[in-house]
Amino acid sequence: MTDCENTQEQTPKQSPDHPPEQQEQSINLQRRALFKAVGGAAAVASGAALLPGCSEPKSRQAGDDLGFTEISHRLDFEHHLPDGYHADLLLRWGDPLDAFAGKFVPDRLDATEQARRFGYNNDFIAFMPLAPDAGPGEGDRHSLSRNSERGLLCVNHEYTQPHLMFSGYTEDSANRGTSHEHIAVEQQACGHSIVEIEKTANGWLPVTGSPYNRRLSLTTAMDIVGPAAGDQRLQTGADPSGTRVFGTVGNCAGGKTPWGTVLIAEEGFGGAFQGDPDNVADEVEARNHHAFGISTDNRNWGDYDRRFDISVEPNEPNRFGWMVEYDPYDPDSVPRKLTALGRFEHEGFTLVTKPGQPVVAYGGDDDEHQFVYRFVSSGIYRPGDSAHNRQLLTEGTLYAAKFNEDGQGEWLPLRFGHGPLTEEQGFRNQADVLIDCRRSAKLLGATPMDRPEDVETNPVNDCTYVMLTKNKKRKEGDEHTANPRARNTAGHVLEIVPPGRSGERDHASDSFHWNTFLLGGNPNAENPAERGAYGQQHPGNISANGWFANPDNVAFDQRGNMWIATDGCESFGFHDGLWAMATEGELRAAPKHFFGCPEGAEICGPEFTPDGKTLFVSVQHPADGDFSTFDKPMHRWPDNDPDLPPRPSVLAIRRKDGGLVGS
Ligand code: FEO
Ligand code: CA
Ligand code: CA
Repeated sequence: MTDCENTQEQTPKQSPDHPPEQQEQSINLQRRALFKAVGGAAAVASGAALLPGCSEPKSRQAGDDLGFTEISHRLDFEHHLPDGYHADLLLRWGDPLDAFAGKFVPDRLDATEQARRFGYNNDFIAFMPLAPDAGPGEGDRHSLSRNSERGLLCVNHEYTQPHLMFSGYTEDSANRGTSHEHIAVEQQACGHSIVEIEKTANGWLPVTGSPYNRRLSLTTAMDIVGPAAGDQRLQTGADPSGTRVFGTVGNCAGGKTPWGTVLIAEEGFGGAFQGDPDNVADEVEARNHHAFGISTDNRNWGDYDRRFDISVEPNEPNRFGWMVEYDPYDPDSVPRKLTALGRFEHEGFTLVTKPGQPVVAYGGDDDEHQFVYRFVSSGIYRPGDSAHNRQLLTEGTLYAAKFNEDGQGEWLPLRFGHGPLTEEQGFRNQADVLIDCRRSAKLLGATPMDRPEDVETNPVNDCTYVMLTKNKKRKEGDEHTANPRARNTAGHVLEIVPPGRSGERDHASDSFHWNTFLLGGNPNAENPAERGAYGQQHPGNISANGWFANPDNVAFDQRGNMWIATDGCESFGFHDGLWAMATEGELRAAPKHFFGCPEGAEICGPEFTPDGKTLFVSVQHPADGDFSTFDKPMHRWPDNDPDLPPRPSVLAIRRKDGGLVGS
């Protein structure tokens, strides 16, 4: 799986050993990026053209509502919050979802037990309100509710780590030789959980035994729908129809729809498959499997379950790498893989829905030099017409983004017959274009990016933000104003500005403007090529703890403030966490540090309740690090109990006085 798994990198050197002329070129590129990043003041001073940003006059000072006391950069075995805040420990790996599962005893965990319990390595979180007057199967009524005291917490479980889940493994031995018994547990520990939760006088608690509680795993039956459904490349011995598949894997981030469904992404699915792509007779398929990292070195799931061995089922990987949509309000609903949204290492897809207009969804392919995508539905969104709306993501056009150097951009359609997407290039039909999205987007001339993670639209200013986590593979000379740094260790954030005014922007337009919103990294780094850039102020005005690196997930609060979750700050000497900032006004892109993880963990999820008074976060892979194992873990967060290993967990963060989180 991609290095969403916590990669322990070295702190970047301040003095790279490239020749002076390359340094000069790099510095110039950096300056150009800085002018765009810092907007008005620097742009005017330099005489550079000021591109349209997302800022519009506001009655209040944007960002001045982020009044919390900032926490410090640090690295220890605890989580950290500002004074005046409390975190409920809401769900941990192994917590029971049904009323009879009982206390978690790791030594007794088998596949049947795991299927009744919260899964491993929690990632994306969707809070779906429960209307007090509706029951299971009444998604239409629930989805209109803004109840912030009771709801369903819908949580992805991205991947498993046997060496931290079971006794007797090192990281190497777990990678190559996990037992069949343990693989069966892993296949139940990944996927997704739906858990009813409620806010009580004692804080947030799971409702164990709720009829809504459900697990999706690698044995859950799912339909395949959309343009690629039934294609010969999706057919296997077990499913000659190419329309029915067991399970989902690599579930990283996702999205929500206003018609009461949840979208979950299949990201690092290649790691589940075993075998040598060069031994697959069809060269299109061999190239495809290589592109997603399938190899003989991968985990040994194929020994246990032959569909994960590509020498037995070469088409099975084509049934993964999609977005999945399901209805959390109906425990019997069958999830659907949406082929119209393309196949790649999906970070997630988030929606812009405006009545009477097509639905627009934005997503990223989280790998080095991969692309940012947008989907525009064929049909229009009709509020309240759930039967109609539930078909919107099955038919439409997928586009890849081209970021031009001058701050303009265009969306390139992945449509069979368009441009190079023809039989001459080996495409038989639209299914080929969607199954091989990466190749399609590259042929069209889309811009290779620095690992696109979440792409999400700020509901207040109607602009769209792209988290680019890092790209150490970008070489000197390959810089581009949209990806301005070679060996980008710290990542950056871009702002997409569709045409039109806030609230009326045309997200379906084929053109846009873009700005560099911020560059991750230390604003005081000696090497300009590694220097972070934040806000419109002098870097000295960013506090010592206000900078961060490796943006991954993002959420917006009801005031339009941006909350960025990171994955990789330990390489810079401190914990991953959350940083909050305004997207407009004088404090635009000036972050404040709100939350810090225990060592080894990344933070995912961030999700607010509709009233803004609770913020849910996922703490994924705590205590992950060199030599840390189930038997000898780095620490045992969150239980700190010698009988329990470290456990990935979801926290519910509240202000002690009941106020808005962050204010
Ligand atoms: Fe699983 Fe893209 O982080
Ligand atoms: Ca990540
Ligand atoms: Ca992620």
